[in-house]
Amino acid sequence: MNIPLCIPMISQKEIEAVRSVLESGWFTHGPKTQEFEESFADYIGVKRAVSLNSCTSGLQLALEALGIRGEVLVPSFTFVASANAIVKAGAHPVFVDIDYDTCLISAQDAIKKITSKTEAIMVVHYAGQSCDMSSILAIADKYNLKLIEDSAETIGGTYCQKKTGSFGLGCFSFFPTKNMTTGEGGMVTLNDDSLADKIRAYAGHGIEKSTYCREKETQPWHRAACFAGYNYRMSDLAAAIGIEQLKKLDSMNESRRSNSQYLNSQLALEEIDLPCEKKNCRHVYQMYTLKLKTVNRDDFVLGLRARGVMASAHFVPPVHLQPFYSEKYNCKKGDLPVTEQVSERIATLPMYPQLTEKELDYIVSSVKEVLSQLKKEGKCQ
Ligand SMILES: Cc1ncc(COP(=O)(O)O)c(C=O)c1O
Repeated sequence: MNIPLCIPMISQKEIEAVRSVLESGWFTHGPKTQEFEESFADYIGVKRAVSLNSCTSGLQLALEALGIRGEVLVPSFTFVASANAIVKAGAHPVFVDIDYDTCLISAQDAIKKITSKTEAIMVVHYAGQSCDMSSILAIADKYNLKLIEDSAETIGGTYCQKKTGSFGLGCFSFFPTKNMTTGEGGMVTLNDDSLADKIRAYAGHGIEKSTYCREKETQPWHRAACFAGYNYRMSDLAAAIGIEQLKKLDSMNESRRSNSQYLNSQLALEEIDLPCEKKNCRHVYQMYTLKLKTVNRDDFVLGLRARGVMASAHFVPPVHLQPFYSEKYNCKKGDLPVTEQVSERIATLPMYPQLTEKELDYIVSSVKEVLSQLKKEGKCQ
């Protein structure tokens, strides 16, 4: 049996939606991006949503629009894009440790890392679960920090019934491995109109009115750039896919949840720490990650792959130990003990809504086989 790490869930509806954009003749930012933004803002429960070509662009533009050039707290246990966006915005990442059970930013460590130069905190809602937002909001409030939520991996997850991405400036990814996809794509969600307009302008060459909006004016060829911007826009082709994906997001997330609950019920083994869902959270399992307590992680992942279960590991190494960051910011092993321990133990199993019971059972039996094989061979940590 061959089970990939993930498969996007695409139906005839997405195909028809793309076909109708192709037939319309309007491919770039236009009516479909506008429609997608409005439905996404409604879904998250915020006033505005700005569609972009990626989440990384969203993180960078959120920081740039806020004018942040000082220190930004960020977990090192994340995809490198979170930190890259901080650097590209001209600010300085300061790496924060995580809590072992959730793999989410440690509020206690965040407080220890605050200096007079700290301007913002970028939390990462890892693998489908929200950070502890009441602690984070209290820190942001007390120390007057801007809050950016890297919610690339959590679309539809909640904290105390509120969706991630609605607490600060939310940044989402529609990369094919995420809870929903547009191929490549991203979205920023927020309640501040002028900041939303600024992010939109930055994403469209610094021009406040898009080509589509200008087309409705008497002299659409007049362009006024207010900033030196970028081209980070989403296309209408991508937005058409996003509109269809969003309609079924809740049901796709429900399937991820029941698949994960099934794996939890079958994999309660002494060699493994299972993913946990915190009391106030609704986890949407963009990834199903577990921690290996006894056997070597790389051997475990290789053993699963040899059986056709395309497991992986997120994230190895942590960002502070990647060459650019360790050299430029003088980070070294031992700086973030929990992050480093988790990064050595973490493994990602295949997770997507379409997994069948037969496939789930095959994942479970493969995990058990690989664990007993590695124990026999003495391949321990
Ligand atoms: C936590 C996190 N942040 C940012 C990104 C970047 O998203 P994008 O590929 O849409 O730029 C990812 C994607 O893998 C991610 O997992």
